[in-house]
Amino acid sequence: MLIRILGAAAGGGYPQWNCHCNGCETVRDGKATPLTQSSIAVQSEEDGSWFLINASPDVRQQIEAMRASGSFPSRSGNRSLPFSGILLTDAEIDHTTGLILLRESTAPLNIYSTPTVKQALSSGYALLSTLQNYCGVNWAPLIPGEIIQLTTDLEVEVFALSTKAPKYIQSTEVEVWGIGLTIRDTITNTTVTYAPGMASIDTDLRSRFENSDCILIDGTFWTNDELPSLGIGARTAMQMGHLPLSGENGSLSQLSTITNPRKIFVHINNTNPILIPNSPERQTVENSSIEIGYDGLTIKL
Ligand code: MLT
Ligand code: MN
Ligand code: ZN
Repeated sequence: MLIRILGAAAGGGYPQWNCHCNGCETVRDGKATPLTQSSIAVQSEEDGSWFLINASPDVRQQIEAMRASGSFPSRSGNRSLPFSGILLTDAEIDHTTGLILLRESTAPLNIYSTPTVKQALSSGYALLSTLQNYCGVNWAPLIPGEIIQLTTDLEVEVFALSTKAPKYIQSTEVEVWGIGLTIRDTITNTTVTYAPGMASIDTDLRSRFENSDCILIDGTFWTNDELPSLGIGARTAMQMGHLPLSGENGSLSQLSTITNPRKIFVHINNTNPILIPNSPERQTVENSSIEIGYDGLTIKL
């Protein structure tokens, strides 16, 4: 299979339109590379079909970038969607808003999500019900603990990752909102695990990572109080369901002892200093065994 990081930034992108943090200004000064918002795509090598995982507000630009790099057969199809399906790992605005931009598709969108996410996107943030009157939607369930077959060679195992509800949901009920996906190519017997919203690393997740060939992991924040300390948000990283990189129990330290997979940070917030070239924090990560994801990074497994 082929995995492509379409967007390595978290919500807001890099730079974010209203942000004047160090990182955003560094991009505007031409001294850091811009990044689009969180999304990846996976291709079956058997039949060539692509699956979009999360639909970011930058999906239009991301599809054009794929086209420009030769991912799709040129000029094929009549305004059809170049993805056989779209898998959603949560109902967050930054992972779903791109769906509305795909309404011009001549065929219904094949969307996979948990029933909880489907419900949220049918009432709280009514993208799916809106799309019914445009291209239409064929929905299929993603259930934690279950495996679904995407193509003859690709299967996806779903696992629970986070109980953080999107901000637009006004419920205090504790339920699984964020999932992770382990995608297996059954021909090459290789797996990638995608966990863009990771609140903690328990023993199950640790062994899942250790048994993967590549992991794409939550790189949102450097510190737990990143947003409050910059005066640009009240919630800590942990309150937002994101394990920070630094600190004794941070993801850098916890992932350092996972040795089998290639490890890559994705969903990196614009305030995270690892995005600034030559910053001490970036150097720390560069000296670790974990890579910093970027738009267009393609992995063949
Ligand atoms: C997240 O990743 O935590 C969300 O996308 C942040 C948000 O938009 O509330
Ligand atoms: Mn996000
Ligand atoms: Zn910023």
